[in-house]
Amino acid sequence: MGEETTKPKKRKMKGIILAGGTATRLFPMTATTSKQLLPVYDRQMIFYPLNTLIKAGIKNILIIVAPEHSGQFLNLLGSLFKKYGIHITFEVQSIPRGLAEALTLGENHIGDDNVALILGDNIFEDDFSKQIKEFRSGGHVFAKKVSDPERFGVVKFNKNQRAIEIVEKPNEWISDYAVTGLYLFDNDCIEIAKNIKPSERGEVEITEVNKAYLKKKKLEVTIFEGEWLDAGTPDSLLEASRIVKEKGITRNFHPVIDEAITEFSAELKVLSKKKLK
Ligand code: DAU
Repeated sequence: MGEETTKPKKRKMKGIILAGGTATRLFPMTATTSKQLLPVYDRQMIFYPLNTLIKAGIKNILIIVAPEHSGQFLNLLGSLFKKYGIHITFEVQSIPRGLAEALTLGENHIGDDNVALILGDNIFEDDFSKQIKEFRSGGHVFAKKVSDPERFGVVKFNKNQRAIEIVEKPNEWISDYAVTGLYLFDNDCIEIAKNIKPSERGEVEITEVNKAYLKKKKLEVTIFEGEWLDAGTPDSLLEASRIVKEKGITRNFHPVIDEAITEFSAELKVLSKKKLK
């Protein structure tokens, strides 16, 4: 009899969308609803990160929301994808303590699996399904050249294009490459996140998780060229709608999302007719 080999367990990929926060720069619009429920072109912002995950075949998605907007998220997404075998669950983040809290709030959801964490206000033109499906271990982030790196987590490369340093909102220039809001992590991220101390701005920073993987030489960074939009101000929100329309970004959505949106809109029409009677 041959020797038994223990193959490493193939872990599934769970999804988390961070859709909490207060979005004060979008007041008064975000006084009555969440930023991620504001429209970008013809659909709510949250559909864009949902599309990134659903296109990559992720079936279990946790959406982290602020308490004051949890009901609205539930109304829109509570049973929207049920018949397609996509399970959406919600977790309330009582106060915005930082992006890395998604990994501890999502501990039970992640279980023994890997996780694709995406920010609810990040819109990508590129399709990262291949990288998400092929991810096995360590960390994998996506970087884009920007003109205002001081606003982001920033990654510096050596001459062989290997990441050597990551800094959150650097005071001094280190690189023009922003780390964007899609993070693929293996299961170690939960323990890493549990040990992060709040930064000067009082947040548990996702950059600290990335730094921990970088230190272990387990962080892969993919540079991409396509559009990356984060709609954090009235101007960038308007611009996001314009670019989405111009580039036809919604035309590349997974059919399940379009079908679910069409069906939901039809149901709403029937309901509103009934109310008028
Ligand atoms: O957009 C990419 C950038 O996102 C990265 O380059 C930075 O490294 C990362 O720290 C983050 O930067 P910001 O400080 O600009 O993130 P912001 O506070 O805008 O939060 C991003 C989204 O996450 C936003 O939709 C609100 C939500 N959020 C934020 C916090 C702090 C939560 O759901 N919970 C939170 O605790």
